[in-house]
Amino acid sequence: MGKTIGLTYNLKTDWVCGPDDPYDVNAELDKPHTIEKIVQAFEAGGHRVKRIGNVHQLLSQLQLSQPELGQLDNLNVDIVFNICEGTVGRNRESQVPMLLELKGIPYVGSDALTLGITLDKVVAKKLFISEGIPTARYFVAGSTEDLEKQNTIGYPLIVKTIHEGSSKGISRDSRVEDLEGLKRQVHLINAVYKQPALCEEFIKGTELTVAVLGNEPPRAMPIVQVSIDGDTNLGDEFYTFERISSTALQYVCPAKISVELTRKIQDLAVRVYKCVGCRDLGRVDFRVDQKGNPYVLEINPLPSLDPKDSFNIFPKVIGSSYDAVLNQILGFALARYGLEQKTLEEIPLRSR
Ligand SMILES: Nc1ncnc2c1ncn2[C@@H]1O[C@H](COP(=O)(O)OP(=O)(O)O)[C@@H](O)[C@H]1O
Ligand SMILES: [Mg+2]
Repeated sequence: MGKTIGLTYNLKTDWVCGPDDPYDVNAELDKPHTIEKIVQAFEAGGHRVKRIGNVHQLLSQLQLSQPELGQLDNLNVDIVFNICEGTVGRNRESQVPMLLELKGIPYVGSDALTLGITLDKVVAKKLFISEGIPTARYFVAGSTEDLEKQNTIGYPLIVKTIHEGSSKGISRDSRVEDLEGLKRQVHLINAVYKQPALCEEFIKGTELTVAVLGNEPPRAMPIVQVSIDGDTNLGDEFYTFERISSTALQYVCPAKISVELTRKIQDLAVRVYKCVGCRDLGRVDFRVDQKGNPYVLEINPLPSLDPKDSFNIFPKVIGSSYDAVLNQILGFALARYGLEQKTLEEIPLRSR
């Protein structure tokens, strides 16, 4: 039976640009086109969609409820499909799930704790290390002092933000070969992005990203490989913010890698997903070095649903579609809450 789905999201215009903001300040936020595609997918699945908007819009709609009359919320939705990245602070992705949980409103996707853990790449890396999941060696630099002493890894390094996504803060200059470059990039992350810098061993090789769907058990989808200027052997190249909107960057699916490596990456992706308590959907990013050793870069429990990205690419390889996968993800969440009659096995992994 069709459900009423509330949609929470952050449009790029949710960010009011200040004079000191970097050029990529709203990199993670959504385009109206993505929202329309999600709405169309659920409508095609026989559901109604109510556009709620960002956390402030959610909050103001929740505040109209009358708890004294036993009314916990007045959204009048069966479940919320949340893709809010949030705008302020490192708990920003956790805000919508916290409010929904407080009000007892079912929602699709991971909870506040998982979103907090994974937005902070260093916290997530510590968990990966504790479970023996391979991740690139790193150190954290809160200032440009003592960098020489802190860097026991050597060069090249990549210098990144700790709690941003969508390659925000990542440009060609992020790969550094010497102390001078390291100081320059650490200063940039500290001063402009206002957070400690995550300095990681640069993994020369190929880059893979893999969606994981479902809960009992979660399953890894076909692997998507990043190609730059027509080459999947990226070597020293990587996914910069500029490249997101350039034709130089393309996706190859299934990835041109051995059956053995495919299996290894998919198994690792599921381990990563479970390690941070992901639910319903997620996407794990990897680099694989030239010897074939995989390293987890991060997991995204709120992966991009932009139709240009992997959630519109891997479905085609399994004879499915963007719309069918989104409806399937909804089905996983409905099943978790006991709101759906179907068992997980009955939810088709095919397009209608
Ligand atoms: N250790 C690394 N070695 C090589 N390239 C990296 C490394 N870490 C990140 N990158 C490059 O930077 C991109 C963004 O890094 P990632 O950690 O996935 O952060 P984001 O949250 O911005 O996607 C990656 O897709 C990859 O191309
Ligand atoms: Mg990434």
